[in-house]
Amino acid sequence: MPTILVKSGGEAAMPEWQRHFAEFAPDLAVRWWDDGAVAPDAVDYVLAWDPEAGRLGGLPNLKVIFGSGAGVDGITADPALPRHLPLVRMAPEGATQRMGEFVCWAALSLLKDARRMALNQAMAQWQDFEPERTAAETPVGIMGLGNMGSRACAMLQGLGFPVRGWSRTRKDLPGVRCFTGAAELDDFLSETRILVCLLPATVETNGILAAPLLAKLPRGAGLVNAGRGSHQKIEDIIAALDAGQLSGAVLDVFEKEPLPAGSPAWAHPKITVTPHVASLPSRRERAQYVARVIADFTAGRPLANLYDHARGY
Ligand code: NAP
Ligand code: GLV
Repeated sequence: MPTILVKSGGEAAMPEWQRHFAEFAPDLAVRWWDDGAVAPDAVDYVLAWDPEAGRLGGLPNLKVIFGSGAGVDGITADPALPRHLPLVRMAPEGATQRMGEFVCWAALSLLKDARRMALNQAMAQWQDFEPERTAAETPVGIMGLGNMGSRACAMLQGLGFPVRGWSRTRKDLPGVRCFTGAAELDDFLSETRILVCLLPATVETNGILAAPLLAKLPRGAGLVNAGRGSHQKIEDIIAALDAGQLSGAVLDVFEKEPLPAGSPAWAHPKITVTPHVASLPSRRERAQYVARVIADFTAGRPLANLYDHARGY
C-alpha cells in the first residue's frame, strides 16, 4: 500500500486528514510525519508545509512532494531538498475562490475605511465620514497574476474596481490592464490606488514592499499583502502610513509568524492584521487535490502546478 507522510496542522489534525484521504484515496496509508513505525524506505509521498531541513532527502523511495500551501518556500528552504522530485504546489479550486474573497474584502475595507469604523466603535464614538472615492474611481493593482491573482482580478471587477496587474511574463486577462517586469513596474504603480501583493517569495520579490516602491504609488494609496512576510519591510510601511503616503494597510503575512506581541503592527490605527488566513483551503479540499495528483502521477499523466527551480516559484 503506498504511504503518504503528513506534516500539516500537527499530529492532532491526523484523524481529519485520514478521514478525508479515505474518501478520495482509500488505498493510501496516511501517517503522521514523526510516526516512528514508518520505515523511511516505505514512504512514497509527503504532504508538508515546513518539513525540517534534511528530512525529505532521507526518504529513498519518495516520489512526489506536496506543499500544503500554494507557496512552497517552507519546503524549498531546505538546502538538501531532493530537487529531482516533483514538488506540487497546492491549488484546489477553493483556494483561489477564498483568496479572491479575501482580496475583495480587503479592498472594500480600505475603500470604506473599516479600520477607522472599528476603532470608533471600540470607543463608542458615532463619527460619520464619507469615503473619498467609489470603487469605480479606485484602480486596484495586483502584483502576481497566477492562480491567486487572476481570480482576484475577476472578482474585483465584479465589484466595479478598475483592475491592473503586474507579472513577470506578459499576460492578457479580460478587462485587466496588464504590465510586465521591472521595466513596467513604475507605470503599473503610478495609477494604482490599492496595491495587492500576491507574489511568491523569491530572490527577486524579497523586500519588494519597501519605501522606494511605496513612494511610487499615488499619495494616500492602500496596501494589501497576502503574499509573504518576506515581501514587506514593516518599518517602511509604518513610516508611509504615518506620513500619509499610505492611507491604510491590510497585512495577512509577516516576516515572523505568529506576529510577536511587541510588533507595532498590532495596534497601529491604520493597519488591519489578519493571521495568515487569506486563503486556507479546507483539509478535505487539499486531500481531494492530492489524491487527484497522485492518480495522475500513477497513470503517468503530466502534473500541474509544479514548482520550477529555475524561476523560483
Ligand atoms: P502562481 O500561480 O505561481 O503565480 C505567481 C505570480 O507571480 C505569477 O503571475 C508570476 O508571474 C508572478 N511573479 C513571480 N515572480 C515575479 C516577479 N519577479 N515579478 C513579477 N511577477 C512575478 O502562484 P499563486 O498560486 O497565485 O500564489 C502566489 C503566492 O501567494 C504564493 O506563492 C504565496 O506566497 C501566496 N499565498 C498566500 C496565501 C495566504 O493565505 N496568505 C495563500 C495562498 C498563496 P508569471 O505569471 O509571469 O509567471
Ligand atoms: C499560504 O500561505 C499558501 O501559500 O497557500
